[in-house]
Amino acid sequence: MFFIQLLTVLYMFTAVRASTRLGNSTAVVPSPNLVPIAHMGNVASVQITTGDTRIFFQDSTGAITSGRITAPILGGGTYAPIRAFIPASEVLPNTPIVTITANTATYTGIRVYFFSPENVLSEYIWAPTTGFSGGPSCTKCLTAQGIVVQNGSEVLYAMVNTAFNQFRVGFVSAGQPATISEAENLGGGWGGCCICLKA
Ligand SMILES: *[C@@H]1O[C@H](CO)[C@@H](O)[C@H](O)[C@H]1NC(C)=O
Ligand SMILES: *[C@@H]1O[C@H](CO)[C@@H](O)[C@H](O)[C@H]1NC(C)=O
Repeated sequence: MFFIQLLTVLYMFTAVRASTRLGNSTAVVPSPNLVPIAHMGNVASVQITTGDTRIFFQDSTGAITSGRITAPILGGGTYAPIRAFIPASEVLPNTPIVTITANTATYTGIRVYFFSPENVLSEYIWAPTTGFSGGPSCTKCLTAQGIVVQNGSEVLYAMVNTAFNQFRVGFVSAGQPATISEAENLGGGWGGCCICLKA
């Protein structure tokens, strides 16, 4: 969401420069380098220390697509679409999407979380040597735990703690819809699901 807001701000800067009548957005002359992004819902993003950035969003076909931004946009980064890498058949229309990354001695990778059409909490994992894995064959993915989220819930968050090689994913469970639950991976894999918030 922040990324799209940034694009909007950049676009408005162009608009102000290109227009003789400030604030009249119908006078915008689009930049020749403008990259249209047809996202269905939210956009999730991660960046490593070099500024190399990936964004993830559901496109009009229902697939989750990833794109690369070579560096922060204000520093001259350019955008290149990569590919639709999560098939529409695995993705709930208008699913929330979140992503986390780390590039440390204990963990290097990207993880993307979303909901399946059956409301199963789903994960794709990127690792430097193997690329992305996910879908029904991915036994190490959170998807394999078969956790069902509350139908219609938009709650989804994810965190990584590289000191412990620990991942946490928060959501509203169909089994406990009155609270937030978390799945945890303490480095050895997903398990012990799920932990509801307690006072
Ligand atoms: C400003 O916007 C209005 C519509 O809101 C449009 O009719 C008008 O032509 C625009 N002016 C310029 C200079 O683009
Ligand atoms: C979720 O709710 C919608 C609207 O009531 C319904 O059409 C859909 O089948 C439900 N999905 C699941 C997986 O239960």
